[in-house]
Amino acid sequence: MDCWSRGYDSEQGFWIDRIPIPPFRSFYRNRQQPVCMAQMSPEIMEAFRSCRIFPLATASGNGEPNVAPMGAVYPRDNETIWIGNQFMKTTISNVMENPRACLYVWGPGVRGCYKIKGDVRIETEGKNYETMRREVAKVKPGLFCRSLLVMKVTEIYECLPGDHAGDRLA
Ligand SMILES: Cc1cc2nc3c(=O)[nH]c(=O)nc-3n(C[C@H](O)[C@H](O)[C@H](O)COP(=O)(O)O)c2cc1C
Repeated sequence: MDCWSRGYDSEQGFWIDRIPIPPFRSFYRNRQQPVCMAQMSPEIMEAFRSCRIFPLATASGNGEPNVAPMGAVYPRDNETIWIGNQFMKTTISNVMENPRACLYVWGPGVRGCYKIKGDVRIETEGKNYETMRREVAKVKPGLFCRSLLVMKVTEIYECLPGDHAGDRLA
């Protein structure tokens, strides 16, 4: 499948409408299954429990970046994170075009800082979605969970400054 995006043509020195999207991006867009999984350690699970807000970064199919704060973020097991879509606009359209996302886990008083990347699946029905819908309504009565983003963790990186900054942990 040919994939195109708007981009800068460095040979001609101006922006053009159709440049090929690098193969890895169309690969991510079309793949059904995660390539690999990474497991969150007990320290990372603890950091999750101590955080209240998680910046969630996504990108459109042609690479336009976006970040949005998310509160309804729950690790379900050490390789799965659930995120509730109550108000997403750009985030949800990005994930539909490009099912990858990146969260960072840090907050005041939280030990450790982590960048977590993963593959995202959107669910709008079924057992998982119903559970999330109930949990969101319980935390904030009247709030409606439009869909559930199931993020399967593929990579985890160290974010603390120091010798190991940016190192891949899993
Ligand atoms: C503290 C805070 C927590 C939020 N939590 C969520 C959330 O859990 N789910 C959600 O869909 N929107 C949440 N929002 C709202 C989105 O971040 C916001 O509506 C954003 O505009 C959607 O961005 P997008 O268009 O880039 O997707 C939250 C906003 C704030 C300020």
